[in-house]
Amino acid sequence: MDTELLRQYLEFYRDLGIKTVYRPAKSAQRGAPRAETAAAPARELPLAAATGELPPAAATGESLLQILSDIGDCRRCPLHEQRSKIVFGVGNERSPLVFVGEGPGADEDAQGIPFVGRAGQLLTQMIEGTAKREGIPLLRADIYICNVVKCRPPGNRTPEPDEMEICGQFLFRQLMSIRPKAICALGGTAARALTGHKEGVTKMRGKWFTWRDIPVMVTYHPSYLLRPYNQATAKREAWEDLKKVLHFVYD
Ligand code: URA
Repeated sequence: MDTELLRQYLEFYRDLGIKTVYRPAKSAQRGAPRAETAAAPARELPLAAATGELPPAAATGESLLQILSDIGDCRRCPLHEQRSKIVFGVGNERSPLVFVGEGPGADEDAQGIPFVGRAGQLLTQMIEGTAKREGIPLLRADIYICNVVKCRPPGNRTPEPDEMEICGQFLFRQLMSIRPKAICALGGTAARALTGHKEGVTKMRGKWFTWRDIPVMVTYHPSYLLRPYNQATAKREAWEDLKKVLHFVYD
């Protein structure tokens, strides 16, 4: 990797609030793809909808930085046309718990960081508030957060299946790299991308599914919980779902 490219990655990570980067040990470097390989087109990893016989999610040894490098200045789908920043993911790369949302909104597009707008603030409160009440010492920064698609869909529309198919490859590589103990799917789009099930989120929430061999808890998207109607019940249910996933991961 040349110096200019390295500088760009480091700046990107700095913008995400990441202050420390680790150099892999010599043995890990030997097995890692070279920069030329990392810049090659994304590998074909089919979406969960078609993954009935996929092998378990073995750790790939691929770092998040390598995946980010592979994304590059992505123009693989139409979502790149109106984006400001690619929103890759944020948080602890070794987290046992990963939250997956749908796709960036306006605030995330401007900052390049997932869940920083109103829905993000609610998500932070939900994670930290529930953990505190349950006696689990956990902050948002301790977990990893990302989305199915990395560029903002215009007008916050739902991502199209082909957009999810293309960008889902990177999500799956992120998940294989982190290999968490559990995943929490926020809303129907993330739930469908990870589980392949087609039901609405109200039917799926509170239940365990699997992505490859990793347990996936489905819950409501925080944007849904911000809507003014019928929210007392949905909020209570979301808190119950979070309690389940937090105790599963951290007990
Ligand atoms: N909604 C999402 O699904 N993801 C974000 O990052 C922000 C809002």
